[in-house]
Amino acid sequence: MWLLTLNACSPQPGPDALPRVVLDARLQGLYERACVHCHAAKGSGAPQQGDAAEWARRASQGDAALLASVRQGKGAMPPMAWCAECNQEDFQQLIAYLRAPKE
Ligand code: HEC
Repeated sequence: MWLLTLNACSPQPGPDALPRVVLDARLQGLYERACVHCHAAKGSGAPQQGDAAEWARRASQGDAALLASVRQGKGAMPPMAWCAECNQEDFQQLIAYLRAPKE
């Protein structure tokens, strides 16, 4: 039990940690115009970029469901998540970036 508690507090990424994701300049621009204002803003209520535990919980519903949340909106996130020009692949890469380890 004690060991479990210690492990839960460890900042070391486990072997299951997701790889880093590097966005190209265009996607980085879209990220900074849209997602960053909530997903890198503590207190916004949005799961924060690089928050592995929170993303693991949300990802358990499947990639298609995550994509659908972004397109249709969820809670305080409006439909298309402030990125009306994003296509499906853009969203998939941006979601992968949100889930990847913090920069
Ligand atoms: C206006 C604030 C805001 C913006 C902008 C925003 N999000 Fe979100 N996002 C949220 C909030 C709040 C949640 C949590 C919704 C909930 O579970 O109630 C969320 C949840 C998510 C989820 C998880 C959905 C789920 O089913 O659990 C994904 C994936 C996501 N956002 C991706 C993105 C991407 C990609 C962008 C940029 C294109 C983006 N968001 C822009 C606020 C925002």
